[in-house]
Amino acid sequence: MITAQYPLTLKDRSYSVYIGMDAGSAFAPKCIEHGISKSLVIITDTHVASVYLKPMLNNLRHHGFAVLSIVIPPGERQKSIRRAGMLYTELLLHAVDRTTAIIALGGGVIGDLAGFVAATYQRGIPLIHVPTTLLAQVDSAIGGKTAVNHSLGKNMIGSFYQPKFVWEDITVLATLPFREIICGMGEVVKYGIIRDQNLFMFLENNLEAVIRCSREELLFVQSQCIAIKTDIVSRDEFEQNIRIILNAGHTVGHALESAGHYRALKHGEAVLLGLAAESYIAQKMGILPAESYERIIRLIGRIPMKANVSSLRMPDILSALQWDKKRIGKKIRFVLPKSIGETVVIDEVDNRLVREAVRMVLSS
Ligand code: NAD
Ligand code: GLY
Repeated sequence: MITAQYPLTLKDRSYSVYIGMDAGSAFAPKCIEHGISKSLVIITDTHVASVYLKPMLNNLRHHGFAVLSIVIPPGERQKSIRRAGMLYTELLLHAVDRTTAIIALGGGVIGDLAGFVAATYQRGIPLIHVPTTLLAQVDSAIGGKTAVNHSLGKNMIGSFYQPKFVWEDITVLATLPFREIICGMGEVVKYGIIRDQNLFMFLENNLEAVIRCSREELLFVQSQCIAIKTDIVSRDEFEQNIRIILNAGHTVGHALESAGHYRALKHGEAVLLGLAAESYIAQKMGILPAESYERIIRLIGRIPMKANVSSLRMPDILSALQWDKKRIGKKIRFVLPKSIGETVVIDEVDNRLVREAVRMVLSS
């Protein structure tokens, strides 16, 4: 059952994010409603395929769709030009034409990779996101960012490419490993800090229920996050202004992730640490009041994250920071909280303070 629909208003590229539970059987009818062609390619990974591919294939075939499925290994390393090249080859060998739609069934890795392939194969073919992780449902499947990684930096090759619609069934989170729920909390906490003090307060009061995926609390939190993201992207699709605030926690976060070679830390864990580090910087610069800083650190501290940061080295982290996509010339751009629910963009942060902030999160 679909319980809510959030519109993204982008002129002729407008679309909806549908959210609900136990909604699998309604997927094919929604494709028909959206005028999706009867020829589809599902791109997914082995973990997701083992539970969700067959039901989706049955549902689509029952409604007359011809479906090719491509199953790849899981993990961030798949977000590569090499893997994208292999997918192009599969599509060409199966004579996939420009009317065929790609369904990205999986977490943020599959969404970013399959989205990139859909954006570039024969100059772009239709795309549907069916996110299956908390992180992808609240963030990565919405807004059209697609990317693969380069050895010199994360998400360095990519494009903005909007899907026809996004289909989110929170029931699938029941099979998600606990560590992945914690990763999703990185982006959830981010939304509270950048935009919504009520969401932040709700998390303070209901953190354990959300992490346990208690349906009522989870649906509430996800709905708030989706509403924030669809609103921001509707105003600034190409990150010319307000969309940059979605990068809070990601300047330090991406550097930590990259310094750990995408193995020590998962994206969402790195974002949680990045939010803590950037809040530290904001507080030391006198931008964020001490009381708000302490609330942020307390909430993040309550999230049971098991990441091992002992292998991360300061020189690698500082070097990775230089590759941040928000950098203008030599200046690294930070989105810093100035209260809970509000941010400011700062280009001048003392390197010593950055080091101090990184040291703080590595030792906590
Ligand atoms: P992920 O895609 O690697 O998924 C995490 C793990 O969970 C994988 O092993 C996957 O196989 C498994 N999995 C997925 N759904 C499952 C389910 N329902 N049940 C059981 N297992 C399941 O990780 P992620 O955290 O979803 O995504 C991280 C990626 O998202 C990063 O590459 C990050 O850069 C990207 N990202 C993109 C955006 C964007 O705007 N495009 C925003 C945030 C993050
Ligand atoms: N996840 C950041 C953005 O979509 O802009």
